Amino acid sequence: MDDKLYCNWQQTRLGRSVFIILMLTISILSSNARAQSRTEIILKKGWKFFQGKNEKGYEKDLDDAGWQNVTVPHDWAINGPFDKEIDKQTVAITQNGEKVAREKTGRTGALPYIGEGWYRKRFRIPNANAKKTVLLQFDGAMSEPQVYLNGELVGKWNYGYNCFFIDISDRIIPGQENTLAVHISNRPRSSRWYPGAGLFRNVHLVVKEPSSIEQWGVTVTTPVANLKLGKVNIKTRFAGSGMRLITEILDRTGKKVAIDTTTKSYGNEFEQAFPITNPNLWSPENPYLYTAVSKLYLAGRLTDEVRTQFGIRDIHYSAAAGFQLNGVSRKFKGVCLHHDLGPLGTAVNTAALRRQLMILKDLGCNSIRSSHNMPSPEQVELCDELGFMFLAESFDEWAKPKVANGYHLFFDSDAEKDVVNLVKAFRNHPSIVMWSAGNEVPDQFGAEGVKRAKWLQDIFHREDPTRPVTVGMDQVKATMQSGFGALLDVPGLNYRVHLYEEAYKAFPQGFILGSETASTVSSRGVYKFPVEKAKDKKYDDMQCSSYDLEYCSWSNLPDDDFVLQDDKPWVIGEFVWTGFDYLGEPTPYDERWPSRSSYFGLCDLAGIPKDRYYLYRSRWNTESATIHMLPHWNWKGREGQVTPVFVYTSYDRGELFINGKSMGIRKKSKSSPLERYRLMWMDVKYEPGTVKFVAMDSLGHKVAEKSMVTAEKPYQIRLEPDRKVIHADGQDISYITAYLVDRKGNVCPTASNTLNFQVEGKGAFQAVCNGDATSLEPFQKPEMKLFSGKLVFLVKSLEEAGNINIKVTSKGIKSATVQLRSEKFTR
Ligand code: GAL
Repeated sequence: MDDKLYCNWQQTRLGRSVFIILMLTISILSSNARAQSRTEIILKKGWKFFQGKNEKGYEKDLDDAGWQNVTVPHDWAINGPFDKEIDKQTVAITQNGEKVAREKTGRTGALPYIGEGWYRKRFRIPNANAKKTVLLQFDGAMSEPQVYLNGELVGKWNYGYNCFFIDISDRIIPGQENTLAVHISNRPRSSRWYPGAGLFRNVHLVVKEPSSIEQWGVTVTTPVANLKLGKVNIKTRFAGSGMRLITEILDRTGKKVAIDTTTKSYGNEFEQAFPITNPNLWSPENPYLYTAVSKLYLAGRLTDEVRTQFGIRDIHYSAAAGFQLNGVSRKFKGVCLHHDLGPLGTAVNTAALRRQLMILKDLGCNSIRSSHNMPSPEQVELCDELGFMFLAESFDEWAKPKVANGYHLFFDSDAEKDVVNLVKAFRNHPSIVMWSAGNEVPDQFGAEGVKRAKWLQDIFHREDPTRPVTVGMDQVKATMQSGFGALLDVPGLNYRVHLYEEAYKAFPQGFILGSETASTVSSRGVYKFPVEKAKDKKYDDMQCSSYDLEYCSWSNLPDDDFVLQDDKPWVIGEFVWTGFDYLGEPTPYDERWPSRSSYFGLCDLAGIPKDRYYLYRSRWNTESATIHMLPHWNWKGREGQVTPVFVYTSYDRGELFINGKSMGIRKKSKSSPLERYRLMWMDVKYEPGTVKFVAMDSLGHKVAEKSMVTAEKPYQIRLEPDRKVIHADGQDISYITAYLVDRKGNVCPTASNTLNFQVEGKGAFQAVCNGDATSLEPFQKPEMKLFSGKLVFLVKSLEEAGNINIKVTSKGIKSATVQLRSEKFTR
């Protein structure tokens, strides 16, 4: 048994209920591939991996028995160990306003991503009567992949984040074993964050007939999209002559809602239009997906079939109405996300991505920015399915460098083809509502940069006339003067809240996007005293305070953004830096060791919400109320000392009680940004016991309440899996949060006990993370200290169904068990 066989695959793989039934786990060798018009295999298993230089001709067929067995997606660097010396740099980070070069550690995560690696995989395609077209598609490979087939170089691509495919029809030997070898190379100083290393995204093998639909050859647009009518235009590029195309449109239930047959092509492209009456419009609230089934025939014989998911929706940007989705103005309540998945590193995993998005759904977030590079297909498919608007970004550098070996090395030669592949591979996703040509590129300065901005935007327009283009600009003054900002479809401002008004007046577009906002820093569950607003604040323990008052020299507090979002109709939304902590960029501690991951997240590296998550939730989640109190109430030694209490709540006012004594009523007021969005009791003196918040309506009537208490000493472990039933596919993951409670069941918020994990049955321990940016404990060891009382460990399924029994122990503490079930899903 080897890889999974997928039939008739195109840009989408999720939510295809009917189609997934065809997803048989059978060996390609034993499959009757000839009976199908197109076969796609995701090459997941059976890879060999070796890290090092090519001393023996690894591209050739050699004995690789001693190499490591790995599955792809694979990130060779995530196993660490963390090491201060990796990618240590003595630099001045000019984007951060630094003038003097100083030693920086942990900038790229202190993980061993630098160097060369080799992947090898042997595979066969069956002998066929007629010649086949065979493609290899890489969804991304970090980085500079060089692809060899049977010892010959067949293709290469520099940018690790982009997808590309190679036609290997002339090199493949049907009926025999073929050896695929991929060389990966990561230069030092090639990134500003942890990029990961290796075949971190999927590799696809596509076998089809020569007379077939081109890869990425179906383009769906919806030029009319309202509640009465959807006009669906589909262009289908193909190879062959004398072809006939039948395109069917299926609704979510699989019911055929439209069909069209054509033989009239324009060159090698068919064009069809479909009226859909009373369509279900796609939106974050109703992520309704249709499927186009494109069937290509030659002389009555089906030669190819491709399924493409799409949504019917209308996007519009204007000075008069800002951003509109389906005719209704709305704001982006978005987060920026790096591509790493914390303890899993950068190896793409659908369960991990889905979990992130579910956490963001509860936040009330409606959009994602893939900062600062091309996303994985899986992430965008999930956004289509779960309802998130997507800002797909391309580059962090153009021709001018930020880091010595960054993308500027390739910009001149590769930028156009990188943009073309991004657009071609992703354009059918309804979630994508905007492209970004770059982030804070140093080319914002100077006339050359203006030309580059126009050149890139024109390429996006040429490839996709339906979506606008932005660039995240931090050099706002320079871009006002040079014309850089004026030429963009959507002027995106990174930070610089004090310049929004000026930029709005200076730029002709009539609206401004907060393409990157806040960069407030905090460590989950850590609170510092005295409680005060501070820029670039550092502490000896290398943590940041969760009173959410600390930010960077270039950034600001969330509340400053909220004022702009609420008071300026011409601000079309914001993308907060960041939704989740990520590996690398440990600002403000990039000059101190150990510190190897960010402090910016609304959630920590383990995905556990920090307090700041609830500040945004109190504004963004309009479906369910928020009451969140901070800090925790276990302050032995602070008795009698001022310990302010903040409440992040969707309610407008409320009263705070400490052990039954009123601390007074607070009401949100416009007297300052902080008082407008937070209820704050600055003079509370700590005494152990109960803190209670009573939310009130405008008449002073109680509408809701919440309490927290001082916990006694830890007594027992508690476990909370995010999912108790997972898919027995060897890739699905249950994320289990572990914490300690006292005898009465109160959560112990300061516990730092070490926990040990045992997993038995049809699952395996995969990784653990506690969200502490200074921890050097490996993610892969089944043992870790709690950080601020919590951690999350990951249990993955095997390919066999059955029970998974999990036991967590800790010295002197009552242990805990939980049982999961792994099942073969037949979705
Ligand atoms: C921005 C930059 C991000 C990240 C952030 C940290 O300027 O675009 O990549 O570095 O600062 O605050």
